[in-house]
Amino acid sequence: MLHRALFLSSPPMQKEVVLSGIRPTGFLHLGNYFGAMRNYVRMQEEYNCYFFVANWHSLTTHPDTKELQNSVYRVIAENVACGLDPEKVALYVQSDVPEIAELYLYLNMLAYKGELEKTTTFKEKVRLQPENVNAGLLTYPVLMAADILIHRAVKVPVGKDQEQHLEMARNFAERFNHRYGEVFPAPQAFNFGSELVKIMSLDGNGKMSKSENQMATIYLADEDDAVRKKIMKAKTDSGPTEPNAVKPDYIENLFTLMKITSSADTVAKFEHDFNNCVIRYGDMKKQLAEDMVNFIRPIREKAADIQNNKELLAKIIQQGAEKARASASATLQQVRKAINMNY
Ligand code: TRP
Repeated sequence: MLHRALFLSSPPMQKEVVLSGIRPTGFLHLGNYFGAMRNYVRMQEEYNCYFFVANWHSLTTHPDTKELQNSVYRVIAENVACGLDPEKVALYVQSDVPEIAELYLYLNMLAYKGELEKTTTFKEKVRLQPENVNAGLLTYPVLMAADILIHRAVKVPVGKDQEQHLEMARNFAERFNHRYGEVFPAPQAFNFGSELVKIMSLDGNGKMSKSENQMATIYLADEDDAVRKKIMKAKTDSGPTEPNAVKPDYIENLFTLMKITSSADTVAKFEHDFNNCVIRYGDMKKQLAEDMVNFIRPIREKAADIQNNKELLAKIIQQGAEKARASASATLQQVRKAINMNY
């Protein structure tokens, strides 16, 4: 009895805050889907999720904003088409939340030039765009920290390439807490479930990535024929010469894609053929192409429907902005109080 009373009087369990940002440069592809979006879709039931399009971050590398607007719409539409529910999560555009910019300003006072210059991604960008080494590029990790800390997020689903930024966000949070009082929890990298499927480029050169070889990347917006053509051109070889051989990684990748899109029977058949050295990659790719077309088509069509429905898009974006700003302004109030900026 006593137990029950205690249970009833305790406050409801707060769901942990998950946050991630998506850069709206380039079209989303299968690597994004299996490495990130599908992961987000699984999280939306159990966590208090914030997912946003990082359009301010884009300005650090893409000063031309004409295409940016469409890319933002497309990313929103594609994420909803892949199963993110704007009713369940806050799906918003970064620039709709001015509170992030104010927090960015405060955090900039806690970030040192030396550590920013040492950041791997900064050094890489300096190499890639020596003619445009702007201050926004240098403080990219500070803006990212503001994105995360504005919702006091604790779980941040990111790839390996973002872990250094996340560590910097933890450092800025700690410095803030130390100097002004405890406001921020320490954000941690997070992936839901253990098995994040890694998708390689179809030419066998590293991971499927946004900007490189378009023929080796399957985009969620690809038409049926483009999908077929790309799969048929995927790298193979003359086949295994001994039974139960180890698969080269470009072949392993075709099997990975098949596991994702084809029936278990189909996968088993080609596994068997491979292990017995009778596999015909042409046949395998034909089957994979059809199954992939059937996988991509509904996503592409749904995304296109949403993207063409400006009213719906506007509603989704506004709904997201409202949720994000409610949480952001609550944090900012605490921040201002902590640093005596509340007049
Ligand atoms: N920097 C991330 C990327 O390039 C995008 C991003 C911006 C982000 N702000 C974020 C990711 C906050 C996680 C949390 O992919």
